[in-house]
Amino acid sequence: MARPTTPSTLAAVLGYMLATGAPWPALVAWWRTRLRKRGTRQFDQAAITEAEDVARHTGTFGPDWFSHVVPHWLRAFEVLGGPVQPLDVLEIGSWEGRSACYLLRKLPQARLTVVDTWGGSDEMLRTREERARVAEQRFDLNTRPWAARVTKHKMTSDAFFQARPPGPQFDLVYVDGSHHADDVMRDALSAFAALRPGGVLIFDDYLWRFYPRPVQNPAGAINAFLRLKAGEFDFLAVDYQVLVRKKPPDASAPD
Ligand SMILES: C[S@@+](CC[C@H](N)C(=O)[O-])C[C@H]1O[C@@H](n2cnc3c(N)ncnc32)[C@H](O)[C@@H]1O
Repeated sequence: MARPTTPSTLAAVLGYMLATGAPWPALVAWWRTRLRKRGTRQFDQAAITEAEDVARHTGTFGPDWFSHVVPHWLRAFEVLGGPVQPLDVLEIGSWEGRSACYLLRKLPQARLTVVDTWGGSDEMLRTREERARVAEQRFDLNTRPWAARVTKHKMTSDAFFQARPPGPQFDLVYVDGSHHADDVMRDALSAFAALRPGGVLIFDDYLWRFYPRPVQNPAGAINAFLRLKAGEFDFLAVDYQVLVRKKPPDASAPD
């Protein structure tokens, strides 16, 4: 089985973004994000270390796919009004709850809805069954201190959205479920529709590559989404994750 890879040099990232159809505003946002990161490296490292500590003191976790992105999350939290706000948050893909626990800890008024099959993803195929069983048990234990603020749905994200009434219901949506572009595209459209104006949508794994054709990976879907919904959001960051903020309806009318 192939292992996921991530382009590591500047040229490789740029090449990958172009190969997966990144619109030019995404390229500009990526460059701006790079400049901002260079100016805040010390703060970023402190935030990452804090996220690692949160996990260490909360429970039992396997691989850490999350802590390196928290500087972007802190920006999103700030934009959404910070820890005092009773935000409605949706996470698609929770696994052992590492990102969920961080969010619950940093946003003490937030209500978190999580959706996961706890069946693992394509890239986890070989060890999926056993690891997935352990992952769900860990999720339940790890999130127990905040159980009153967590609503858990064990199902596909498609089934979750189909069962919900249409319309905006969330202030923050994190898309980190299936990484195949077909699924990411459906998650992106459903999540954006479910996002309140001013809300933030976070995509994980923009630079993650596992499927043979570049466009089959999350970036293929995320870039298609960015083109389709251009004008309806503002970029907050383009990096390993993409963060966009939904504009109010009047501001998103087509030119
Ligand atoms: C990378 S893990 C999530 C990691 C977690 N957000 C974190 O940062 O620790 C991806 C998760 O998506 C779930 N998943 C895969 N396909 C899914 C689907 N179609 N609907 C919902 N969840 C899915 C998997 O079971 C797995 O738990």
